[in-house]
Amino acid sequence: MREENTVNAIETSGLVKIFGDTRAVDGVDLTVPAGTVYGLLGPNGAGKTTTVRMLATLLRPDDGEARVFGHDVRADPNAVRELVSLTGQYASVDEDLTGTENLVLLSRLIGYSRPRARERAAQMLEAFGLTEAAGKQVKHYSGGMRRRLDIAASILNTPRLLFLDEPTTGLDPRSRNQVWDIVRAVVSHGTTVLLTTQYLDEADQLASRIAVIDRGKVIAEGTKGELKASVGEGAVHVRLRDADRRSDARALLVRVLDAEVLLDADPLALTARLTGRATEQAAEALAQLAREGITVDNFSLGQPSLDEVFLALTDKKEAAA
Ligand SMILES: Nc1ncnc2c1ncn2[C@@H]1O[C@H](COP(=O)(O)OP(=O)(O)OP(=O)(O)O)[C@@H](O)[C@H]1O
Ligand SMILES: [Mg+2]
Repeated sequence: MREENTVNAIETSGLVKIFGDTRAVDGVDLTVPAGTVYGLLGPNGAGKTTTVRMLATLLRPDDGEARVFGHDVRADPNAVRELVSLTGQYASVDEDLTGTENLVLLSRLIGYSRPRARERAAQMLEAFGLTEAAGKQVKHYSGGMRRRLDIAASILNTPRLLFLDEPTTGLDPRSRNQVWDIVRAVVSHGTTVLLTTQYLDEADQLASRIAVIDRGKVIAEGTKGELKASVGEGAVHVRLRDADRRSDARALLVRVLDAEVLLDADPLALTARLTGRATEQAAEALAQLAREGITVDNFSLGQPSLDEVFLALTDKKEAAA
């Protein structure tokens, strides 16, 4: 067996899980360096949870290999279980108990003495901003408080690897930020985090490397910078007054922005993918359109959405094929 502290937190090769006719995970290769947040980004049904469940030994892979700190999930599931924690799965919080009661109970389950369990519970509630809610039944918690308690429960015994499966879905911006701070704190204590998310900005905030997964396959992998560079900095959407001017507008945008300009299904609309300083480029493009007498009815500038990232990545894959 290899030394635990020199191996990657996760290594998979050709990982497959099939449900009936669905290849939920279809040959996934991942390498997650220890001590980092690794983002698994993908839309509904991409295969994120299925991947996580295999890595956490809750589901048996149908093919391929997966190792957690060098331990094979199939051959050595007990060793893997000792090193990992999955929020919302292993740490099942009881709705009828208070925050304190839950954490004390779970601390006792993992072997703390009663006084040590009380101390640990109080410490965690404090760290997660839940001291005031400590005596309240969890069923009265807000979504954000509940999510924080879930994470607190799952890191009571400081796992080497923490799986966070869409930890902020459905939370308001303030609660999302609190969860993000917690994730950063967990990582600063040496835990590796595999974070699944549907939000590009969440992966952007937290992850050092990201794998984009779609229909069971990894369609892109790299650092944030690498992925962003591959899809451009943003997009300009323009809607014209007059459909007859669309080809003029397109030629102008191609010239001014030096970017790819797509004709939308709407005969009045165009979209340009920007590569450089998005705001300045967009302002310049608008000014030039006005100078040429091309009337713009509607104009918007956006970061690439997850859809656009997928589109760009899939386009590229098709072009290369
Ligand atoms: N237990 C199961 N039985 C049958 N099909 C399943 C099962 N679990 C997942 N699937 C299917 O496998 C595919 C991948 O599902 P998975 O839950 O891994 O996606 P996900 O990326 O986590 O999506 P979401 O963002 O919605 O959580 C989907 O088509 C899903 O319907
Ligand atoms: Mg899921």
